[in-house]
Amino acid sequence: MFMNKYTSRFQTLTTNAAQRLAKNFASPVYLIDAEGITRRLMEFQETAKQIYKHSIVALSYKTNPLHGMLNILHAKGAYAEVVSGDEFRIAKKLGVKNSNIIFNGPMKTDQELYEAIESGAYINCDHADEIERIENIAKQMQRCVPIGIRLCFVSEKHNWQRFGFAVNQDRQQKNNAYKIVDYILQSPYIQLAGLHAHIGTNIRDINQFAKLGENMATFATELLEKCNLEMSWIDVGGGLAGVSPRIDEKQFSPHPIPDLKQYLNAVISPLLPYLQRLSNPATLFFEPGRTLFEPFGALLTRIIGSRAIDKNHCGFICDAGYNILATSHVYNHPLHIPGPKWGNQLTTFYGPTCNQVDQLHEAMELPSLTMNDLILFYGVGAYCMSFSYSFIRYRPGVLLWHHDDQAEWLRYPESLEHASQLEVVPVINRAIEYV
Ligand SMILES: Cc1ncc(COP(=O)(O)O)c(C=O)c1O
Repeated sequence: MFMNKYTSRFQTLTTNAAQRLAKNFASPVYLIDAEGITRRLMEFQETAKQIYKHSIVALSYKTNPLHGMLNILHAKGAYAEVVSGDEFRIAKKLGVKNSNIIFNGPMKTDQELYEAIESGAYINCDHADEIERIENIAKQMQRCVPIGIRLCFVSEKHNWQRFGFAVNQDRQQKNNAYKIVDYILQSPYIQLAGLHAHIGTNIRDINQFAKLGENMATFATELLEKCNLEMSWIDVGGGLAGVSPRIDEKQFSPHPIPDLKQYLNAVISPLLPYLQRLSNPATLFFEPGRTLFEPFGALLTRIIGSRAIDKNHCGFICDAGYNILATSHVYNHPLHIPGPKWGNQLTTFYGPTCNQVDQLHEAMELPSLTMNDLILFYGVGAYCMSFSYSFIRYRPGVLLWHHDDQAEWLRYPESLEHASQLEVVPVINRAIEYV
């Protein structure tokens, strides 16, 4: 299912360009490859539309909610997929049309639901209480609200099981998919208009997506034949892998980037017979996160010290720690070392945080490195920046990287000044003298 080889644009970064980036901006610093990510989105959109005309790609905000980057991708026609009120408000701030927002996730407040209903966003529901709350809000508004339900295919043991309504025959369960359909059908205030599923993440096995398409098609066809219900949208979520190998895969070289044509054919083909039966074309939503963002993010970091581990094993301390390479406990992110290098040395990279667990990578054979060398971890564009946190040191900034040393800020580095805006230092007086 994969292209033969993954060559990242980050691999073209030379020593001089890396040094200039660090000097002109900062080190450590994250980079987003603007061209790479735009091309990947456009390939996704075009390929999906070739197979099914009414396909739409929505950006999974949680994967990397950098406003400037999202804005570039929205300008290419991508919708927003949000999973909280806060993310919903980012989409609104970026000027995304209400009707181009998909509102997912297990927590939506009444106020957020009210706004989403009023604005005409797509709402996919996670559990029965949420549906009852929507029903109450709709009743107050004297409206019949179209909703989607998230499905969870319990027959597929690899699929995530903790979200949505279980597709099985146990109708006694409160979260049974058939039971909730019966409930929605008898309500004058809600209307079942969409089906949603998101089966997991970092998936390379294309059969899992073919199975997703089949399971969605079977459920939707049952609704059509038994209840005469036509869906307005089918949302197949995200889940496709990126390029970083997991630590337990015991490999350091990047995976080839997953081939979108094979993925899209796998998931859409089983749905086509259903989609072609509908009197009004349904929209087919995709919510890619990892496969869209992950290959196109990097972290540039400098070696600031060395510490021999033993005579054949060199430890280097970098200015970026595990709290900002936040996905390094699961993935061995691929490494690019700018410039010509020689030798062969067992190497481990540590971070600067004065924490025992602060290691950036499994030990590996690398050319000999030295103080002030810059190294670049890539494959960090998904969940890494959004999971990162300040710990001992503030979080670095993010650059929109064009090529060589050409870049501009997407987010400034955090500083004491920013952090202080949220801190409160109470005046010490008798009332709070404890001892
Ligand atoms: C509902 C939903 N859609 C899309 C995504 C994006 O997933 P991925 O990054 O695996 O493509 C997620 C991530 O967990 C999700 O929960």
